[in-house]
This record gives sequence, structure tokens and C-alpha cells, in this order.
Amino acid sequence: MTTLEKIGAAPSRLGATALYDWDYLVQEDRVHRLIYTDPAIFEAEMTQVFGGTWTYLAHESEIANENDFITRRLGLRPLIIVRDTNGTVRALYNRCTHRGTTLCRWDKGNSKSFQCPYHGWNFLNTGKLRGVPWPEGYAADLRDAKYNLAQVPRVESYRGFIFATLNMDALPLVEHLGPIAPVIDEWLDRNPGGKVVVCEANRFKYKGNWKLAYDNSCDGYHVAYSHRSLLETENRMAGDNAKGMAYYRDSPDTLAMYMRYTGHGNHYKDKRPNLEKRPGGLWALEATQPGMAAYEADFIRRYGRDRAFALLDLAGSEPVNINVFPNFSLLGNHIQVFEPISVGETNAIWYGTMVVDETGELGDAVTDVNALRMRTQEAFPNFGEVDDVANFEQVQRGLMAVEDEWVYMHRGLGIPCRVKTLADGTITAPATDEAFMREHFKEWKRLMKSRLNLAIRREP
Ligand code: FES
Ligand SMILES: [Fe+2]
Repeated sequence: MTTLEKIGAAPSRLGATALYDWDYLVQEDRVHRLIYTDPAIFEAEMTQVFGGTWTYLAHESEIANENDFITRRLGLRPLIIVRDTNGTVRALYNRCTHRGTTLCRWDKGNSKSFQCPYHGWNFLNTGKLRGVPWPEGYAADLRDAKYNLAQVPRVESYRGFIFATLNMDALPLVEHLGPIAPVIDEWLDRNPGGKVVVCEANRFKYKGNWKLAYDNSCDGYHVAYSHRSLLETENRMAGDNAKGMAYYRDSPDTLAMYMRYTGHGNHYKDKRPNLEKRPGGLWALEATQPGMAAYEADFIRRYGRDRAFALLDLAGSEPVNINVFPNFSLLGNHIQVFEPISVGETNAIWYGTMVVDETGELGDAVTDVNALRMRTQEAFPNFGEVDDVANFEQVQRGLMAVEDEWVYMHRGLGIPCRVKTLADGTITAPATDEAFMREHFKEWKRLMKSRLNLAIRREP
């Protein structure tokens, strides 16, 4: 018996979007409102996109030890992400093979096995059925692989970030990430040992489609308007310096920041050209907050000027947004994850990150750095993300106007020399352009149109 079960062959899986004209719904300069509002499209996305491409699940530091697990989702599939007894990271379907109930009801923990709360079937953390109560009641051979938990067939990590896909033909993760992988490297390598550890999260739920968040992830156009109150506060506190959001004041396209599309729906917005390469260069850009000067003085008093500024940089936010389609962003020091709930409801979760000091180069300072890092990470989710989710909800409401059908994303399109394709095929444009959106919708359309080679796996 094969342990791979192909998905998509049965005619019953064609679904309600079988006759949709994707080229009509997604055009060069605009997309149809239905892609944000139609339940049938949402249902198809949960397999074609959240299944058809590499989707972020979790960070390895969340399951650092053998038998650690956390529960997450791939689209709407409930999963247990586990580091099994042999150290292998698996994405088990959190669905009992008996009658389908959610097997594990905990957010996280450490266990070699999972016992179903309904009738007590017990599964090893490799996904294999270990035993059932009163087995003499079964004529069938319960060692048949079909009773083992379903698993996502491909789970790969890139430097601690765990992604998964059902698509047997997807490129290896590192090739899929391609030119965005070195940008992720840079994000990590400024930390000691090139690592971070994920800690708790700011959790938002908004009444809007998941794509509204991804469409906004590289949007430098909205900042000066949507985040005006934050920008004005920062302008007042920052004086002449372009700190935090204040960088977007005046005319953002004449500044050195830019957006780059790297393929497969991935892109980043880079404000690092504004960064002075010196200890304290990053800290100098950090959004000004009450109490900051006192922290800075305290660090200088305790660690000396040069070391203090190098430490303060570790608490400062990296000025880049790195977005991996469909659900993952690195923003400042956060890992942001978009979790679809329904066509009009989404979780946007901002996981905080801490630096780790495995080599001991930071000594006692690591606690101070991480304490201050938590303060800098409180700022944007509290004062900025609320503006964004308000926009997403208001877009979803606006799109309920059935007769007014189109959403435009043509900023920068058709202006000579504005959007540039580089020799490696990546695309750059000014920070306010919607080129990134046009490109990630090409990837979305490709996935929605494709007959993908999808499968699930079970232990033999
Ligand atoms: S549903 Fe899990 S044991 Fe019955
Ligand atoms: Fe925003």
C-alpha cells in the first residue's frame, strides 16, 4: 500500500468554481470584487493556494524539543505541528481517523502520543495509530495505514521557518523562496548566531478577506493617510529626523526606499537604504516612544557608549517588510501570519521575537535587550495595525456593492522606466507602487487555474 493519497482526481472535487473565468476576474490593472467576497472562490483557495504553494506554519523555536507540539492550520485544515520522538518535524492533520473529531485540543505542549477525547483512539506523534479501546470489537485490521493520521506530505524549514505544501510538484522550499531567501538571511544575521526565538503574539481578528492583508503587506501608498495619527505623533517627537513612520512624510517616492518583487508571490519593501552603517544606526531610526531616552542613557551608563549602541540596535526594528505568499510577513522584528477563517474573516497574528545568546557574546545584556525589544515591538501592533485592520473591514463592506465590480491596482503601470525588471527577473518599483500586487495576483491566478499534483501522506 502506498502512503501517498492523491487529491483532486475525483470529479466530485471539481468544485463550484470549475467554470470560473480567472482571466476575467484578475486582469492586469484590476481584480473583480468576487475574489474577495465569493465563498466558492474562498473554498477553492483553501486547496489551490493554501495547499498548492508553500505556506508558513510555525517557527522551529516553538517546538524546540523532541515531542513538543503546537496546533496551527493550513488554510482551514487543523494541524498538529510536532517534533516527533526521532526529532522529525511533521504536520499531522488534527483530525481523528475514527469519526473526524479534533484530536488535540491544546494550543501547545509536549507529548509522545495523542489520545482522542471522543472514543479514546490513541496515536503516536509519528501519526501512527497506537491502539483503540476494546479492539476485539473490530473485524478490520487496525494496522491498515488508512487508520493512521493524515499528514502534510512536504514539510521543510528555511532557517527555522517551517513551511508546508500538499503540492508534490512544488519546487524545494529554498528554490521557491529564491531571491527573497538572502533578504531573510539578512533579517536573521543581524542577531547573535543568526537566530531568533518566537515568543507570544498580538492577535487581531478582522471581518475581511485574507488577501486584503497580503495586498497591504508591501503597500507604501497608504501609510501617510491611513497611519496619519501615528505619523503626526512621530513627526512631533522625531523633530527633523525621519524615524519610524515619519520616513513616509513629504514625498515617499523620492526617498531611497523601494519595493522588490522576487517571484512566486513574494516581495519586500526596503527602507534600509536610509540606514547609517554604524553602531546605533538602526536605533536612530526606531520610532520615538516615551521613555526611550531614559533606556538609552541607562544602556550607555551600564555598557559604555559603543557597546550600548550595538545592543540598542538589537532592540530596534529592522526597516524592511518581507512577504512570502500567501500568509507570512517579517515586519520590523515581528513574524506576522495571516490565517483565513472564512471568506470575510481573518486572523492577523503578530508574533514577537527575542534574540538568543547561545555563544554567550551578550552576557547579562541579553535580558535587557529582549526587555527593550518587547517595548519596541508593542508599538506598531497597538498604534498602527489597528488602522490597517479598520481599512480591511471597510474594504470588505465597500465590496458588498454588487454592481460596482472592480478593484484597481494600477499605480505605476504604464509609466515609462518606473517599474524595472532586473537581470535576475526580479522587479523593482517605487515604494508607493502597486506593482507587487499585480505580480502576486499573477501567482494567485496561476495557482487557481492549475491542476495541481496534490496529495496527503500517512505512515505505512
Ligand atoms: S472520533 Fe476519535 S476516537 Fe472516535
Ligand atoms: Fe499599514
